[in-house]
Amino acid sequence: MTEAATASEPAPIPGHIPESVVYDFDMFRDPAYLADPHKRVIDLLENAPPVFWTPRNGGHWMLVSHAANFEAARDCEDFSSEVLPYKEMEALLDQLADETGRVPRAYPINLDPPLHGIYRKPLQGVFSPRTINTMQEQIRAMACDLLDAVAGKGGCEFMSAVAEPLPVKVFLRMLGMPEDKYPEYRALVRAHLDAQALPGAEGALQRLQKVAQAMRDTIEERRDERRDDIISMLWGVEIDGRATTQEDLENYGVLLFIAGLDTVMQGIGLGVRHLAENPALQQRLRDDPSLISKATEELLRRYSFTVPPRRVARDMEFQGVQMKAGERAMLFLPGADLDPREFENPTEVNLEREGAHIAFNAGPHRCLGSHLARVELNILYEELLTRLPQFRLDPDKPPSFNCGHVVGVEQLHLVWGD
Ligand code: HEM
Repeated sequence: MTEAATASEPAPIPGHIPESVVYDFDMFRDPAYLADPHKRVIDLLENAPPVFWTPRNGGHWMLVSHAANFEAARDCEDFSSEVLPYKEMEALLDQLADETGRVPRAYPINLDPPLHGIYRKPLQGVFSPRTINTMQEQIRAMACDLLDAVAGKGGCEFMSAVAEPLPVKVFLRMLGMPEDKYPEYRALVRAHLDAQALPGAEGALQRLQKVAQAMRDTIEERRDERRDDIISMLWGVEIDGRATTQEDLENYGVLLFIAGLDTVMQGIGLGVRHLAENPALQQRLRDDPSLISKATEELLRRYSFTVPPRRVARDMEFQGVQMKAGERAMLFLPGADLDPREFENPTEVNLEREGAHIAFNAGPHRCLGSHLARVELNILYEELLTRLPQFRLDPDKPPSFNCGHVVGVEQLHLVWGD
């Protein structure tokens, strides 16, 4: 458990919120959640209201049911992604920039329409299946290298050995960054991971500035000399009819860093932990690798792990509760994808299951990197099941977890062989 495990002080409950929809849950520090996140998610689905107010971390809504998440995710007018309204955020960042230098903006994830669409559109081609598919063999080679380095050892701490390095290597290669940036980026990812388990934005802006700084030279180089990478592609697109600038490129780079590294890593960690606990599933996938892509989907659903924040934009009734403008609401996607009202026997990993999960969210902000994430996960599972014999959790070192806006595995000790 991290230092974040000390309970936060409960805030007073606003007068318009009845006791019947209040439930005490600290998404950053709840001990049962930290001990085994998705077990606690099931407990919340069974025992908490489908939409509840928690007094922790300043007080906010938690949308737990599938119905609540699906509705809110598609309703950008009432559930704003601008946790601070756009103009206020810009003014604040400009003011901070006077003291510390320019602060990059993670557009479009924290924008509402119409600006959201303007900044999202240029990324769509960059992350299209056609572009990503050209990366497959390189991703496979990186996964094989990492797995081969541990295969002969009989065991490893899988997060630091494989799950964390793979997306960092893919990110550097895709963006066309020099390989010698790898240690610097691992350290930046580590700092980002350590910080996101804590509420509030302390130090977040400086971390984003460091991420932008680390890619500044490559961005400048590609402006004058294009190559076959994402930074070059982004120099070639237009934003609302104008050419992209150095600042746009830094913004996009920071966005991809915060959206696409720890997410893939946690997807891998949670999926591999399930496989380690389920030798029969490992065997089934080894016997019939054509089932792996289905397993990837089911594992994403069974262990959905992101909790995107929203700001309630107006006073309204939502799913039977009164919300007020300015309140914060969390899209608790782990709850949505384990909701028995939506998925029969939701805890079962069922490769024959029909119906779509919302691990990548729904609506206008739906994940732009979902195809890349699926490719990385599929390849990793394929090579893991080929290169390692049956693996299991190390009985002496149980896994540890972290939670916050991204829920995941901190340490995953695996063993294999005799
Ligand atoms: C298993 C891995 C991943 C999961 C579960 C995931 C999940 C999500 C979710 C839930 C959102 C919506 C956030 C919101 O509504 O506020 C999102 C948005 C986004 N994701 Fe992913 N993601 C993953 C991997 C990636 C990767 C690999 C990339 C690219 C490198 C990526 C890029 C993005 C971008 C750019 C957005 C913003 C889209 C927008 O606001 O329009 N993601 N992701």
